[in-house]
Amino acid sequence: MDKTIRWGILGCGNIANKFATDLQMVSGSVLRAVASRDPERAQKFAIKHTAERTYSNYTALVNDPDLDVIYVATTHNFHYEHAALCLAANKAVLCEKPICVNAQEAQKLVELSRKKDIFLMEAMWTLFLPTVTRLIKDIDSGIIGTPQLVQADFGITKPPEAGSRFYEKKLAAGALLDLGIYTINFSNIVFRSKPKGISGYAQFTDQGVDRLSTYNLIYSEGRQALLSAAIALPTPHQARIYGDKGRIVVDDFYHPQQYQIILNGKKPKLVNDGFDGFGYLYEAREVQQCLLDGKTESTICPLDETVATMRIMDDLRKQWGLRYPNEN
Ligand SMILES: NC(=O)c1ccc[n+]([C@@H]2O[C@H](COP(=O)([O-])OP(=O)(O)OC[C@H]3O[C@@H](n4cnc5c(N)ncnc54)[C@H](OP(=O)(O)O)[C@@H]3O)[C@@H](O)[C@H]2O)c1
Repeated sequence: MDKTIRWGILGCGNIANKFATDLQMVSGSVLRAVASRDPERAQKFAIKHTAERTYSNYTALVNDPDLDVIYVATTHNFHYEHAALCLAANKAVLCEKPICVNAQEAQKLVELSRKKDIFLMEAMWTLFLPTVTRLIKDIDSGIIGTPQLVQADFGITKPPEAGSRFYEKKLAAGALLDLGIYTINFSNIVFRSKPKGISGYAQFTDQGVDRLSTYNLIYSEGRQALLSAAIALPTPHQARIYGDKGRIVVDDFYHPQQYQIILNGKKPKLVNDGFDGFGYLYEAREVQQCLLDGKTESTICPLDETVATMRIMDDLRKQWGLRYPNEN
């Protein structure tokens, strides 16, 4: 089908800016409209990214009849409400990660999208990057044998400012939902399965969100992942995958340009597939292709996997007693 995919962006913050920049590199897609609670922010954003329409409320955006898909880029706590708003208006949705705050919300969204036959996908951009596609192929080919252990860390330093989406409990803040999600996703794609055992520990901020958290996931035959995330502790953002025949080291594993394959007793081999822009155009291309193909779900980022990852995070938070406002 020869059709231009018309995008709307809901929420004009930090990641929306990067996504809109990359969307300009996706031929066959156009940013048509943006919405912000602040009309001036919407105007500035629209000028910067050449969107022809602006809205000062999200409902007006989702009711724009000339949009095919809406990218939801608000804070975690609003993802359910805003994605549901889009689906109710029959608009396809690409929703920032985590798709929701918990699996119950995520499952409700999935059911809504399936019932209405409308596309929905979590913006787990890592899965679509060229280097990750290659990495998955290499692992599946058995290049390092059966993966036995995955280690991955994602620690950053964000100042504990009032209103920060990293610290504010009402915005569903904390390391796990924001950063730990990448480590868990990575582990699940390496092992091509879901963990049978889940345990973890958390150190909390004064507001009661996880500042530093670690996760030990146990897969079939005792294969394991040791993962960590932090919002006030910088760590290298590296993943290491150990197999019977060697290991793979992935720097910046959530958006890698390259990785090293180090077979036992051999010299390291560098694989570099890079990526263009900030790396968000690949997920946008996937959405575009799915819509052109009439698909309501991506096979690379399936909804059941998205919900399964939310369940793992629910389990960890339950162990720590971490609940967000309005959670049952
Ligand atoms: N994929 C990635 O690499 C990546 C990177 C960073 C963040 N993210 C995800 O993207 C989402 C947004 O993160 P961000 O860094 O872009 O955050 P941000 O800069 O704070 O932007 C969040 C946006 O949410 C909207 N919003 C609506 N109601 C709000 C409220 N009551 N308080 C605060 N914001 C409200 C605002 O949009 P308006 O005021 O314009 O309406 C705001 O601009 C998060 O879920 C995060 O996990 C993903």
